Amino acid sequence: MPVDLNTSVPHSARIYDYLLGGKDNFEADRTAAAAIVESSPSLPISMRANRQFMARVAHHLAAERGIRQFLDIGTGLPTSPNLHEVVQKEDPTSKIVYVDNDPIVLVHARALLTSTPQGTTAYLDADLRDVDKILASPEVRDNIDFTRPVSISLIAVLQFIPDEDEAHRILDGLLEPCPAGSTLAISTVTAHNPQAVAAAAAYRARGIQAIERTDDEVTALFRGLDLVDPGVVLVNKWRPDAEAAAIDDTHVQMTGGVAVKN
Ligand SMILES: C[S@@+](CC[C@H](N)C(=O)[O-])C[C@H]1O[C@@H](n2cnc3c(N)ncnc32)[C@H](O)[C@@H]1O
Repeated sequence: MPVDLNTSVPHSARIYDYLLGGKDNFEADRTAAAAIVESSPSLPISMRANRQFMARVAHHLAAERGIRQFLDIGTGLPTSPNLHEVVQKEDPTSKIVYVDNDPIVLVHARALLTSTPQGTTAYLDADLRDVDKILASPEVRDNIDFTRPVSISLIAVLQFIPDEDEAHRILDGLLEPCPAGSTLAISTVTAHNPQAVAAAAAYRARGIQAIERTDDEVTALFRGLDLVDPGVVLVNKWRPDAEAAAIDDTHVQMTGGVAVKN
């Protein structure tokens, strides 16, 4: 069945791709991105900082916590390094299931299916609000063993789920089948940076629901779990390497953290 890309309407994945310097975007996305950046000039720096956060988190989970199964939701367009590239460097047998609901991400999903021969990557086209569909999918059932710890990651996606009850329902549902030792990684738009607040408003003005959250609200998303050090922080402050340490905090619009289920 042909994929309907609906190229006349801006999509969050393609706006993100454009701001990261990618080519998988259309005029409507570029126009929206230009307007959003006008109200929030540091957004491209922030998006790169967020992407680097994802890679450091993935490395931490694989190298220091021994996690070998990853369910990454709101994956976005392939951008090097992708999560599976980071974790399969630690252990080539690692299994990764990617989930996104954007048709253009589906079109490019093949670029995510570049697993090592010993491991697996799978791609599921699903809305993250449809937790039961995700958990019952062959992609998840064939690749994730729920008797062993699982990493659940929602990186730069929960800003598109403005309702807190809905966000908790999704997170609780995803974590429910996961055993102790499983982890949740989140980054989302912070309310503590005026440019982030402006960017979220600019998305809303273009018909894409988006909200900012305070640190307390982001911390609440991890309820029932044990946050690992350093807790909920700007993404560049989470176990920074030299590159992250060099980023000016005023440019960073995302907070995030990692927590463990016990
Ligand atoms: C800002 S991008 C983040 C991509 C990637 N996680 C990263 O941090 O580089 C947000 C992604 O979430 C996806 N997304 C937004 N709402 C979604 C939903 N309801 N279900 C599944 N994916 C969704 C978008 O299609 C987009 O690819």
